[in-house]
Amino acid sequence: MKKIAVFASGNGSNLQALIDAIKLGALQAEIVLVVSDRPNAYCLTRASEAGIPTFAFRAKDYENKEHYESVIKNNLEALGVQYLILAGYMRLIGTVLLESYPEKIINIHPSLLPLFPGKDGIGQALEAGVTETGVTIHYVDEGMDTGPIIAQEIIALDENETRTSLEEKVHAVEHRLYPKVLRHIFESEEK
Ligand code: GRF
Repeated sequence: MKKIAVFASGNGSNLQALIDAIKLGALQAEIVLVVSDRPNAYCLTRASEAGIPTFAFRAKDYENKEHYESVIKNNLEALGVQYLILAGYMRLIGTVLLESYPEKIINIHPSLLPLFPGKDGIGQALEAGVTETGVTIHYVDEGMDTGPIIAQEIIALDENETRTSLEEKVHAVEHRLYPKVLRHIFESEEK
């Protein structure tokens, strides 16, 4: 059973999908901590409702990234965390966490990387007028959404696609794909 920490900054619907998949037995993992850089984010409410401990911080209360990541690292190590699962965490991971968890930090991004990295992958795809976009799950490196790709799923855009309709499609794919891909990664490590 893998011990994981989920990092999120916002709504946390992907966190919820992981919580639900674990509850259903579709993902053999235990979320031992939810980390958020936004103390009022709804993801923290979801964590508390599921009985998961949380660590919330404000970056501006720390000297720099190394400082707050060292504090996070201490928390993760105390809990025996094996994987860092980013789910809408809006900060770049720095050297402290990258060096402590090599190839153990995974992110989900709402576009077909390398297209449309960074903020608002969905809006960027709409703006560009592409006929298809998608979801990417990848390992995290020091860049912005640049690490090695693990899995992708394509989503076709309809002619009259709106932001709302595309968001719905992307989230539906994310919520199905993230637990499934993590399950494969964790299972293949057990062998
Ligand atoms: C998702 O679209 C994810 O791909 C991106 O941020 C969004 C987070 O949504 N990295 P939520 O907070 O999980 O609802």
